[in-house]
Amino acid sequence: MGPDMKNRVLILDFGSQYTKLIARRIRETGVYSEIFPFNAPIDKILDFSPGALVLSGGPSSVYASRAPRISPEILAMGIPVLGICYGMQLLAHLSGMRVTPAKEREYGLAQLNVSGKSRLLQGIPSPTPVWMSHGDKITQLPPDFSITARTENTEMAVIESDSRGLYGVQFHPEVIHTSEGRRILENFLFNISGLSADWNMGDFVSEAVTRIRSEVKDRRILLGLSGGVDSTVLAMLLQNAIGERLIPVFVDTGLLRKNEFQDLMRRFKERLGLNVHGIDASDLFLERLRRVRSPERKRKIIGRTFIDVFADVEKKVGRVEFFAQGTLYPDVIESVSVNGPAAKIKSHHNVGGLPETLNWRLIEPFRELFKDEVRLIGRELGLDDTWIQRHPFPGPGLAVRIIGAVTRERVQRLQEADAILIEELHRRGIYDDIWQAFTVLLPIRSVGVMGDVRTYENVAVLRMVRSVDGMTADSYPADHEFLSGTANRIVNEVKGINRVAYDLTSKPPGTIEWE
Ligand code: XMP
Repeated sequence: MGPDMKNRVLILDFGSQYTKLIARRIRETGVYSEIFPFNAPIDKILDFSPGALVLSGGPSSVYASRAPRISPEILAMGIPVLGICYGMQLLAHLSGMRVTPAKEREYGLAQLNVSGKSRLLQGIPSPTPVWMSHGDKITQLPPDFSITARTENTEMAVIESDSRGLYGVQFHPEVIHTSEGRRILENFLFNISGLSADWNMGDFVSEAVTRIRSEVKDRRILLGLSGGVDSTVLAMLLQNAIGERLIPVFVDTGLLRKNEFQDLMRRFKERLGLNVHGIDASDLFLERLRRVRSPERKRKIIGRTFIDVFADVEKKVGRVEFFAQGTLYPDVIESVSVNGPAAKIKSHHNVGGLPETLNWRLIEPFRELFKDEVRLIGRELGLDDTWIQRHPFPGPGLAVRIIGAVTRERVQRLQEADAILIEELHRRGIYDDIWQAFTVLLPIRSVGVMGDVRTYENVAVLRMVRSVDGMTADSYPADHEFLSGTANRIVNEVKGINRVAYDLTSKPPGTIEWE
């Protein structure tokens, strides 16, 4: 590390869904890092004086005329640079080499074969699984570089130039599916860049409590509870910070799981001592969703209706200045508009569904964090596993699991099927092995036969995924007996469903929810 460089990493963001994950992985190795947009002014970058630079991935193609680029001065800083996916292609492009659309886009797991002497891959077994997500590839090796690893479809999966201090990986080391990802990042940070591990996350809870107290002072915060882990942890955090001045609200949207509203209202009060306002707004939500089919419109309508319901609560309890949400980083990044470098995937209601002008000031203490980090905070705040290990549940609820129009009858049909799935998971003792499990109701009908009679009913899909942070996911390798047993129960017990399928899609290219 040069004398003017500090023990910290700068990540330049080209809009990848995973940029924050890079920061988080670096955080886990004990090195401080910050993310700047790719076009941050050079002065600001020099001022930060990082000891190493990471160029993130991104959805653009480097050969496109309006592709995000960096000024050559950045590379002239002389610090080691790791380019990931788009970042690697940019390194090649800046060296005058050709990057072209790959014949076949590559998504998902690939086997990486280490084929040369490599500082970046030191100590990494070969082959090793890596996570790919790209449509372009480098076709010419830049000068002074050598290829140190390949996959079946990608000749230049890892390129390195020790003399220039430039390193590129076509895959995503920050994603959990790249088993040796952490070691690759550590090789880059410690062996190549000479950084040291001198940073830890500190006491997030006490820092957040202090910050919230000084911002809110003697005013009040309204908090929407969803029953999921994020808003529950947030409720505990805010209760610690401002006590009675927290106004938690739990809305029955009519789109919750079976019996969820009653069960949770009781548990919030009895187990957590939260003075929750329970509001039954199911008629309003279902009325506004009538005949709405578009996933994005559903989210917007639901987001707006939540706000209307919260505004009604304010009328009852008197002026409230702040509104808190358990927004997590994946919600933010996947909802970013097309104006930023990241592509918009879907607008999560607690981000994209809010009206542009809110009457309240927004408080989102978890905006930088991932779900498993929030779970750790929850433990710290004394929540037990029945809260912490609950599967995530989206704010728009079953509306995004009923493909097509939402009606009370279809909600009920889905609730019954879903309750059977969850019951079977608990009975088998596998609920905690799974990140999220649910049932999706399709609008199509299929033909069946029951007791010698022809049926023509809806199809339900079981979705069970494993994930660490919701950013990537694999379908759960459920055994056949479990699947067929659950499918049988659903078809036999739920009126209106005569066929059950299992969704095997990973994320990417799928998303976890169907809408
Ligand atoms: P996707 O479907 O984007 O889901 O792969 C990732 C995680 O986010 C949850 N999710 C949502 N949560 N409002 C939420 O509060 C939403 O609109 C929303 N959409 C998806 C999803 O359940 C999964 O855990």
